[in-house]
Amino acid sequence: MSAWQVRVLFVAVLNAAVQHGTSLEEELADSILGNFLDTLKDSSDHQRGSDAAIAKFSLRKPSHPDDDLCYIIPNKPASLAACAFNSTSKTFMVIHGWTLSGMFESWMPKLVSALYEREQTANVIVVDWLSSAQNHYVIAAQKTKAVGREVARFIDWIEETANMPLDNIHLIGYSLGAHVAGFAGSHATNKVGRITGLDPAGPDFEGKHAHRRLSPDDAHFVDILHTFTRGSLGLSIGIEQPIGHVDIYPNGGSFQPGCNLREALEKIANFGMFAITDAVKCEHERSIHLFIDSLLNKQGVAKAYRCGSSDMFDRGMCLSCRKSRCNTVGYDVSKVRRARHVQMYTKTRASMPFKVYHYQMKIHFSSKVNISEMEPSLTVSLYGTKEEAENLELKLKDKLVTKKTQSFLLVTEKDIGDLVRLTFRWKETNSWSASNLLKMVSSWWSGDSDGADVEVHKIRIRAGETQEKMVFCVKDPNNQSPSQEVTFVKCQGNWRMKSKGIMRVSPESQT
Ligand SMILES: *[C@@H]1O[C@H](CO)[C@@H](O)[C@H](O)[C@H]1NC(C)=O
Ligand SMILES: *[C@@H]1O[C@H](CO)[C@@H](O)[C@H](O)[C@H]1NC(C)=O
Repeated sequence: MSAWQVRVLFVAVLNAAVQHGTSLEEELADSILGNFLDTLKDSSDHQRGSDAAIAKFSLRKPSHPDDDLCYIIPNKPASLAACAFNSTSKTFMVIHGWTLSGMFESWMPKLVSALYEREQTANVIVVDWLSSAQNHYVIAAQKTKAVGREVARFIDWIEETANMPLDNIHLIGYSLGAHVAGFAGSHATNKVGRITGLDPAGPDFEGKHAHRRLSPDDAHFVDILHTFTRGSLGLSIGIEQPIGHVDIYPNGGSFQPGCNLREALEKIANFGMFAITDAVKCEHERSIHLFIDSLLNKQGVAKAYRCGSSDMFDRGMCLSCRKSRCNTVGYDVSKVRRARHVQMYTKTRASMPFKVYHYQMKIHFSSKVNISEMEPSLTVSLYGTKEEAENLELKLKDKLVTKKTQSFLLVTEKDIGDLVRLTFRWKETNSWSASNLLKMVSSWWSGDSDGADVEVHKIRIRAGETQEKMVFCVKDPNNQSPSQEVTFVKCQGNWRMKSKGIMRVSPESQT
């Protein structure tokens, strides 16, 4: 990207900031991505490389995760012994992606170390195809097939020479390296056990036939983490479509927390175009760090949940684990194979450990005033047996409606233990007057009386991580004084469900 382009981008970004304050992030992403992808697409001034693909196989040592001390050379069986290859142990082959620098990136030794930390006797082989990956993106993408074939020949040779079951082979490919792994898997004589695709590259692979990209046919089990499927100009850095047996989209597969593009704006001013690459790389590379996290934090593995769409997940509609609807993110994923692709979602923290706790809240709003006219800001505080998580924002995807149960997703970074109490707080927004708010809130929690029964507003909660289901009732239903904060505790006594989502409590059962 030339300095001129950067300046244009910067001006465009500032204009965007002035005109659309709220969608700055989106505008920014489009500008950055557009420019970034343009440089990927423009290959006219680069020669088509025709030299044979070269892959080298470096068996790294746990004590030197950053150094290439010993190469295994195909057709030289002595190199296996020389590198102390353990043929009865698991073998990981880590395959890097496209590179500008022609060097391994800093994640490589981190991933190697994490693999050794988890599987001490494993063979961690780094597949070095830097010489081809250093080309212009389009050329590097074309070379993935040839490199994949070479990796396949290596796998065939090592299987025969070391008499190794291929179930022990796990290919881990990042970006373009994921497709290298796919070609390696499809060209190997026998199927390898597993391929993990870490944000497989999108440009030149999206929408292509399964034979021309990583696909579920390439290994007994193929799992994918999608972290940067942000589309622009019909292209996305990471592939958007599901291409494995299990495809997990952390944070919807885009806008990873901690990879703030707003911060990138400030960095552009200070550091120039490197900040652009940083912002793109942060999201793309997040897939690797999520995988490393899953290797290191065995106790705190994150869960992902099957869902029809990211939007439905954000509404809290998909936190069930029934019939393998949920799975573990990363290394310990359950190898569930279905005829159709399985898309799963999860939220994460901004840094390691990435795990969060997901809660589904189902709330039935009942009110005498028309609440769909307002856009309140709702915050919830959760009080558990271990800890509390206060002032969590309840994101409203739609307008509130009455006489209908609405579902929300709430996430907390803390493990609060068992939920015992929660408070619900409405904040006034500009467009809504305080008197209306109080009227609304008071009618909201006091409910309509209907014969002998009192309609009580309750909140049904499902904790994703424990799968525990709970029902919470207003703590003090007899207190009529309007308040912006309402406390709920676990419902007690003789409650029963009537009709759809409305719970009625007999007055005598209340304290
Ligand atoms: C090779 O791996 C096996 C199984 O993981 C392990 O039991 C054995 O100790 C390893 N051998 C060496 C020399 O490390
Ligand atoms: C509530 O307000 C919305 C928006 O002003 C309006 O479209 C809707 O018809 C109203 N509903 C009732 C029951 O008054």
